This record gives sequence, C-alpha cells and structure tokens, in this order.
Amino acid sequence: MDQVQGVLNYLDEMSEKPVTYTYEPPPGTSPRTGRTVKHEVPIIDGRTAAHQPSLDVEGFMLTRHQSAVANFYDDGEVKRVYYPEMERLVREILGATRVLVFDHNVRNGSKEARARYGVREPVRFAHNDYTLKSGPLRVRELCDDAEAEHLLRHRYVFINVWRPVRGPVEQSPLAVCDARTMRQSDFIATDLVYRDRTGEVYSVRYNPQHRWYYFSRMRPDEVLLLKCYDSDPDRARYTAHSAFEDPATPPDAAPRESIEARTIAFFAPAAS
Ligand code: OGA
Ligand code: FE
Repeated sequence: MDQVQGVLNYLDEMSEKPVTYTYEPPPGTSPRTGRTVKHEVPIIDGRTAAHQPSLDVEGFMLTRHQSAVANFYDDGEVKRVYYPEMERLVREILGATRVLVFDHNVRNGSKEARARYGVREPVRFAHNDYTLKSGPLRVRELCDDAEAEHLLRHRYVFINVWRPVRGPVEQSPLAVCDARTMRQSDFIATDLVYRDRTGEVYSVRYNPQHRWYYFSRMRPDEVLLLKCYDSDPDRARYTAHSAFEDPATPPDAAPRESIEARTIAFFAPAAS
C-alpha cells in the first residue's frame, strides 16, 4: 500500500462558534476565525489499497465517468451538459429515485487563472460541507414546502462529485478521511457567511485515529464521489476532506484544476 506524508490544517480548540467568510470580509475581520493547527499525517493512495472504499462504509468512492463537456469554465455549458450527466451518474450509483444537482464550483491553483475565470482556489482546510442542521435546511431552501416535507420523510444523501478538469492531478490533490475513523465530536459546526445568507459547515478537529486517503494522479475521466450528509445514521454520514501538497510533487507541476458538482440523492417514492 503506497502512502505519502501530507500536512493538513485542522481547527484548533476554541470556545466560541467559528466563522468562515466566503468573500473579502469587513476591514479588520479575518476570513476565518479560530486558529488552524497543522498536523502531518500519512495519506494512503486509495489506488493501492487492498479494498476499494465505498460511499456507505468509508464515505467516498472513485469511479470512471467520461463527460461530454468541452469547457468547464463555461457556466452555461456546465449547467446544460454537466448537470444532467451528474444527475444520471449519482442516480445510477446510489439507486436513488431522484437526484437534484444544485450547484458547482470550479477551482484553480493559479491566482492568474482565478482572476481570469472568476473561480475559487483549492481548500486547504479539513471540513465537511453540511451539518446535521444545514443538511435538511438546504433541502427546504431548494424545494417548495410540500415537496420538501415529502422528500424529508425518506432517506436523502448529499454527494459532491469531484473531478479534475485537467489531468493528471499533480499539485494539491484532495484528501478524504475514512468516516469510520471520525467521531461526531471531531466535527465542529462553523458558520459559513455568504453575502446574502449564512450556511453551516463542519470544521474538523484533529484526532490521531483519522485515516486519510487520496487517489494519485486523478484524470479527467475519473470522479471522486464524496458523501457530505446522509440522513441515515447507520451509514457513513460525512466525509472530512481537504486539499494538501504532496511533497513529491515536481516544482514545475501544473496548478490543479477541478470541478465539484453538488447533488442530493432522494429515496422518496415518486409522488403519484
Ligand atoms: C469539495 C471541496 C476542495 C478542493 O469538493 O467539497 O471542498 O480543494 N473541494 O477541491
Ligand atoms: Fe468541501
């Protein structure tokens, strides 16, 4: 089994609720309250693991998928072509009755490219995208009341589908933590402040039990499915994840470019 040593940023112990801003915060306010602490951890190359991680046990899985999208920086094309592809992929893999693709983020490790395309940078901080509170709340925000009531009575699962836009990925690959090695108390609810609303995500506190994975040199015809919320408490519920730097990356490696599609898989029977 191959592994690399990576440095991950965790949330340090703190007493107040941490806050993260998604934009340039008011003067004098730091973009993230709460200190981060660095921990060097082994990160296993999932390609070389004896057993392939799954969504319901470890909380993530790698699979192949060829997209017809020509330009992931074209928002219109992503919504028109990529959203239906992801809707179908997640529906088939999870066996859901319905899948809603509701958002996406393109990320680029180069500052110049970020300015040119208006995209984000890799996230070098261990987190999970939804919490016990924000999972169901997001369903209510996205669906009308009667529909949300129906959907929330059955199982639903938030899945992020992460894919390199260009490959193979050398810089800043994504590390994900085996859900079985995390306790609920490692997840710290954190306000995520947008200009027009406040969401809630989990920051992650260090625990030596955490077992981290990544998939080396991911290609654009591969996707990593990350479970970010499961309403069923008896399966993997969340997957802490973070970008990290592999010390073996050549200095001239191209900046990472990726897209993550945000989806919800519903298991409610189709309304008759
Ligand atoms: C995600 C995520 C960070 C990154 O896909 O939810 O946090 O660096 N990605 O790609
Ligand atoms: Fe995330």
